[in-house]
Amino acid sequence: MNILVLGSGGREHTFAHQIIKSQQCDKLFVAPGNAGTAGIATNVAIGVNDFAEIKKLVLKESIRMVVVGPEDPLVNGIYDFFKEDEALKSVIVIGPSKRGALLEGSKERAKEFMAAHNIPTAAYKSFTAASVEAGKQFLETLQAPYVLKADGLAAGKGVLILQDLVEAKAELEDMLTNKKFGTASETVVIEEFLDGIELSVFVLTDGKNYLTLPTAKDYKRIGEGDTGLNTGGMGAISPVPFADADFMKKIEEQVVKPTVLGLQKENIEYKGFIFIGLIKVGEEPKVIEYNVRMGDPETEAVLPRVKNDLVEVFEHVGKETLDQVTLDLDARSAVTVVAVSGGYPEAYEKGKVITGIDTVQSATVFHAGTTAKDGAIVTNGGRVLAVTSFDIDFRKALINSYQNLEKIDFEGMYYRKDLGFDL
Ligand code: AMP
Ligand code: GLY
Repeated sequence: MNILVLGSGGREHTFAHQIIKSQQCDKLFVAPGNAGTAGIATNVAIGVNDFAEIKKLVLKESIRMVVVGPEDPLVNGIYDFFKEDEALKSVIVIGPSKRGALLEGSKERAKEFMAAHNIPTAAYKSFTAASVEAGKQFLETLQAPYVLKADGLAAGKGVLILQDLVEAKAELEDMLTNKKFGTASETVVIEEFLDGIELSVFVLTDGKNYLTLPTAKDYKRIGEGDTGLNTGGMGAISPVPFADADFMKKIEEQVVKPTVLGLQKENIEYKGFIFIGLIKVGEEPKVIEYNVRMGDPETEAVLPRVKNDLVEVFEHVGKETLDQVTLDLDARSAVTVVAVSGGYPEAYEKGKVITGIDTVQSATVFHAGTTAKDGAIVTNGGRVLAVTSFDIDFRKALINSYQNLEKIDFEGMYYRKDLGFDL
């Protein structure tokens, strides 16, 4: 069958890389894609939110499966757009319905869902401009650090963690009254600070059955030792060494099962990934967020460990027969290290020529912000590429990715050299 992957990051290059291995895949399209996907599939210059153009492409190329990478089109209702259209409704769309996507699109909605289904999470209250004074009073009842979350999508910037009460009140005011994050901060969730170590769990569901994919830990800060500004993610390690069988059982019983059952009870159509951000507090899992897609760069470490035919797995998702699939996982660890443009996550330049990708050995380079120009591959984004390696020992895998990154170069290139320092 012909397949379309939506998105342009390392996550989408990884999806494409796995999908083209499938016997079931005839032609693969990526919209809009990057230089990496151009090497293995056909890139089409269509934005992920341009549903009308996506429809034309799907009909013209007889595409039977659409794999949605980022959250934006999901929150905007791409699943429903397909299911409500006579000509498109038989296409398998990997991603939740708009109602399902609200678990990521609204933090308040996610908290309500967790409360309704007894899923462990931080205590919280939410506020609007009309209740800003009540919000300040609520802050006074809490201990530092204070956690403020813009309700809506804010490109990963909507969460503030503040040590000082005066500053927390001022930020709350700024978010609600001055709309610091636009409409995303018309509602703000204030929640209890959870002290512990983070990990992510990935679930693929057809709405009834589910598979738990490998865990991963992402490194979000730009600086070594987890310092500096937040980024989309500077690298990931899978599996997470501290997520032993006992802890995974707790996650499954207390978080994964009630989440999938909750979707069913609320009649929410959900045929896609659930990315659950967790903090291990003592020995207990607590959910900090849901995402309704795979993580980036977590995908670059998680998906290469899945040895199943990915297209066949997605077909089972479409048919709601995921109970017939058994995951076949590579027992080795996988790590991915992200190389970024100088200046990222603040201002950076694009168009820098990238050299050395073809010298990489025993590792896979997944492209993120790259494009082809005048016969060269040049930088085209903040996160430029991710180098994935495998080994029984994640530390050895990291050494391999680092050795390969030394062979890659572009002006201003930066990557963290301390991944795994906390494990
Ligand atoms: P989120 O966008 O909800 O994942 O939040 C971004 C980051 O803020 C998370 O990855 C955590 O590091 C941190 N965070 C979010 N909520 C909490 C919390 N309740 N307690 C401690 N840290 C948190
Ligand atoms: N790496 C974090 C995310 O994809 O949201």
